[in-house]
Amino acid sequence: MSGFRVIEFQLLKECNARCIYCAYAGDVPGMNFFPLDLIKKTLSEELPGWVWFEGGEVTMSEESKTHLLKAIEIASALGVKSRINTNAQKLTPEWSKRLVKAGLEFACVSFDTLDPGKFCLLRGFDPSSGQVKLNELIYNSKGLINTGITVDLETTLTRYNIDELISLYEFAESCAAGETQVMMGVQCLVAIYDELFELYPGFDSMYNAISQLIEHAKKGRIPVRICCSPLVPCHYPDLYKHHKNVIWVGCSCGVDYVHIHGNGDALLCGFWDHAEPIGNLYEKSLADIWESSMLKKDGNTIAPENCTQCPYWEGTPRCHNLCFSVSHRITGKFTTHSYSLVRRKVRVS
Ligand SMILES: C[S@@+](CC[C@H](N)C(=O)[O-])C[C@H]1O[C@@H](n2cnc3c(N)ncnc32)[C@H](O)[C@@H]1O
Repeated sequence: MSGFRVIEFQLLKECNARCIYCAYAGDVPGMNFFPLDLIKKTLSEELPGWVWFEGGEVTMSEESKTHLLKAIEIASALGVKSRINTNAQKLTPEWSKRLVKAGLEFACVSFDTLDPGKFCLLRGFDPSSGQVKLNELIYNSKGLINTGITVDLETTLTRYNIDELISLYEFAESCAAGETQVMMGVQCLVAIYDELFELYPGFDSMYNAISQLIEHAKKGRIPVRICCSPLVPCHYPDLYKHHKNVIWVGCSCGVDYVHIHGNGDALLCGFWDHAEPIGNLYEKSLADIWESSMLKKDGNTIAPENCTQCPYWEGTPRCHNLCFSVSHRITGKFTTHSYSLVRRKVRVS
């Protein structure tokens, strides 16, 4: 066992959306499902705390939902907790109940905006379908929340929806009642290809919007969970004051989380350069891939210049407040802090 907290499987590549920022955009059709026996073998060997299932879109058809249900049952039988990442467009309340009965414990629902026009723009839907699609998302999200599992309504932060963070928080808060466990998520963009820097909000507007959101959440009823933020504590320490309603998720790339792509490639994260897998699950066990990866070893031992003198340095193996994926893609190394690389590439708004 390698001590994974999370193993994430891309259960299928096919998706019913065409998000403008998708990290997996190159990987469209072929509705080939990830084999359940390979999931079972890997989970039995590794017994991680959690397995995350995503796509493509795992709930896009009856066939994919049935495959997902079986994958969750396999995890449950092994005592592994299941999470899905979904756009929920086809996740009816009936299907939510079935998945929860099979053992689903956490759902991260993509929820970028409350504006139908922006929704279509960001998710690549036909503009005439905006209100209908948004209503489906709201209805299905509420169905999922009503099952009582933890639901993260997560916005992927771009220039287009940065002014909506407080409204999105208030919407998520309005869905939380009684025994339900709801949180609002903010997923910052990870630039797996250069065009994504065009969608990035400027750093000053990001700082302003996120500080306002944090202050709002501190007075609110539900937590906000912020992932992959380029606003690292060494540059924005005031954002990181402890509060029960503010959850910062540091990078766990190469430490205790791995992403298995639809073709079996193991990546240090789902937003890792797809041309640089650390191995393939069809050829080797996850333990063999993980233990022998030089890329992972380098990522965990090579510190960016000046970081080791930083008061926020977390010590060996590394600091969790930077994006190794971006650093490695842009420079081919781990010696530059992602903050300076991203900041240089983002247009000032
Ligand atoms: C890859 S999608 C797959 C699941 C599902 N189809 C969905 O839309 O939620 C999972 C999450 O990754 C986010 N995402 C996709 N590309 C990203 C990128 N380049 N940087 C940050 N988040 C990204 C999506 O917005 C979504 O919240």
